[in-house]
Amino acid sequence: MNDTSHHDHDHVHDHESPAVKRKFLFLLGSARTGGNTETLAREAAAQLPATVEQRWLRLHDVPLPAFDDRRHGEEGHTAAPARSLPAGNERILLDATLEATDLVIASPLYWYSVSADTKLYLDYWAGWLQLGEEVRFRDRMRGKTMWALTTTSHDDTAKADPLLGTLRLSAEYMGMEWGGDVVGHGNRPGEIRTDTDALAAAKGLFASAM
Ligand SMILES: Cc1cc2nc3c(=O)[nH]c(=O)nc-3n(C[C@H](O)[C@H](O)[C@H](O)COP(=O)(O)O)c2cc1C
Repeated sequence: MNDTSHHDHDHVHDHESPAVKRKFLFLLGSARTGGNTETLAREAAAQLPATVEQRWLRLHDVPLPAFDDRRHGEEGHTAAPARSLPAGNERILLDATLEATDLVIASPLYWYSVSADTKLYLDYWAGWLQLGEEVRFRDRMRGKTMWALTTTSHDDTAKADPLLGTLRLSAEYMGMEWGGDVVGHGNRPGEIRTDTDALAAAKGLFASAM
């Protein structure tokens, strides 16, 4: 009898707070491979336990066409027309985004903000919000965690504030949690290796997720 109720309790408990397996999606936003931001991201990722799934996408390798804002229909009606499920690279990015519990934006600082590839990916979120019941983008983004890694060629970390603001506010708009960020300093590839503070911060970035 006691055994049974104990069992029941465990079952209810499991149901209410299932151990969600963390899946980290790393989105590399640099226009070059092997850059400083990627180095920081790999440093951070190396600390994740093997039980955490990692997926890496280089946004440059899954190019999206210019974003077409069709939210309000041809004639500017407020009712959004039903949008069909995306295909091609857009679908790859949508599926990867939805499957992740954690989105890691690794974008260098370009003109004080995210890179164009990163920005374009975020612009597509506005379209994905229109996909309706089949996708439920807003519902499924809620509760995910966003993390950010960036590199600036300035000494002043505050130069990355606009980038961090863009990402933080976008996460907040989507009901996502903010995991944390690392701002590194470097210009030429490899220069980030001399920023030992940023490397240490990257190593500790995901500590709260473990
Ligand atoms: C298009 C472009 C714009 C940039 N704009 C800035 C900037 O606004 N502020 C800054 O500190 N560095 C700027 N940089 C320098 C990069 O942030 C720096 O080289 C960084 O190390 C690149 O990161 P990556 O190695 O991960 O590609 C810019 C570089 C490029 C190519």
